[in-house]
Amino acid sequence: MTKGIILAGGSGTRLYPMTAVLSKQLQPIYDKPMIYYPLATLMLVGIRQTLLITTERDLPHFQQLLGDGSQWGIELFYAVQPWPRGIPEAFIYGRDFIGSDQVCLILGDNLFYGKLDFLREALRTNIGGTIFGYPVQEPQRYGVVELAPDGSVLSIEEKPTHPRSPYAIPGLYVYTADVADFAQTLRPSARGELEIVDIHRIYLLQGRLQVRLLGRGIAWLDTGTPEALVEASSFIHAIEKRQGTKIACLEEIALHQGYITLEQFHQAVERLPASPYKSYCLRVATEYEQLRSGVLR
Ligand code: G1P
Repeated sequence: MTKGIILAGGSGTRLYPMTAVLSKQLQPIYDKPMIYYPLATLMLVGIRQTLLITTERDLPHFQQLLGDGSQWGIELFYAVQPWPRGIPEAFIYGRDFIGSDQVCLILGDNLFYGKLDFLREALRTNIGGTIFGYPVQEPQRYGVVELAPDGSVLSIEEKPTHPRSPYAIPGLYVYTADVADFAQTLRPSARGELEIVDIHRIYLLQGRLQVRLLGRGIAWLDTGTPEALVEASSFIHAIEKRQGTKIACLEEIALHQGYITLEQFHQAVERLPASPYKSYCLRVATEYEQLRSGVLR
C-alpha cells in the first residue's frame, strides 16, 4: 500500500499580499482551490490515506474545506509544520503516519494534468526512491537531474546557477518507508533548510533511485508566482470550457474510482451549495447512471 502526503506549508511570500491571510495552496486555480489538484492526483492513482501538512494558521481552513475525506471515500489526516524548514521535514512529521508503508509526497502547489500511468507504474516498481524529470525552460528554478545516455544519474542539484540539463524534478516523489529514517539524518543546507535533493542522493548512493522522464503528454504546472497562477488558471479554464468537464472534481473522481457509491455521491453533492460545481456533479451522476445502464456506450 502507498500512503500520500501533501505538503502545503510555507509562507507563500512571492504571492503576497494574497497570502497575507490565506494559504498559497488555497488560492484559486480557475474554479477550485489549488489543493484540489494535488489531492486529485493522489486519488487518481489509488491513494486513499493522505496526510496534509500545513502551518498552524492555515490548518483550520484546510480542515474546513476537506474534512476527514469520508465524503470522497478517503481518509485525510493533518499535521502542522510550525516553520518551513524544508520538504524532507514532511517525513519527520509524517513518520508515524507512514509506518512501514511506501509513501508518495506531492507538494501542494504542484499541478499535474494528463495520463497518470507514469505515477501508477512508479508506485508499482519503486525499490527505494522514484523521482521524475520534466524538461523546462528555466531549470535553475528547480531541483535538476542530469542523466547519462544510458539513463544513469550523473548529478542532482538544487536550483543550480548553471543547470547541467533541462530536466527539472517536479514536486512529486515516491519513497519506501525508510525515507523517514533518512530525513532524520539530514543537516540543513546553506539556505537553512533540509533539502529534498539530499534524500534523492541517499537513494542514489544506495543504487535505489529511479528517475523517470515525463514526456509531452503530461503538463506539470508551476503556481509559485502571480503570473504562474494566471497561466495555470487559463490552462484549466481552456480544457474545462472546451470539453465541458471539470479537472480535479473530487466527487467525480471518488465515484469513478469506486471509492464511494452512487448513493454516497448523491449524499455528498446534496450538501453542496447551489453552484456551477454542484450542477456539474449532478450531471456527472446522470451520465454515470446512463453509463451503468448501458445507454451511453
Ligand atoms: C522545491 C524543491 C525542488 C523542486 C520544486 C518543485 O522547490 O526544492 O527540488 O524542483 O520544489 O516544485 P521550491 O518550490 O520549494 O523552491
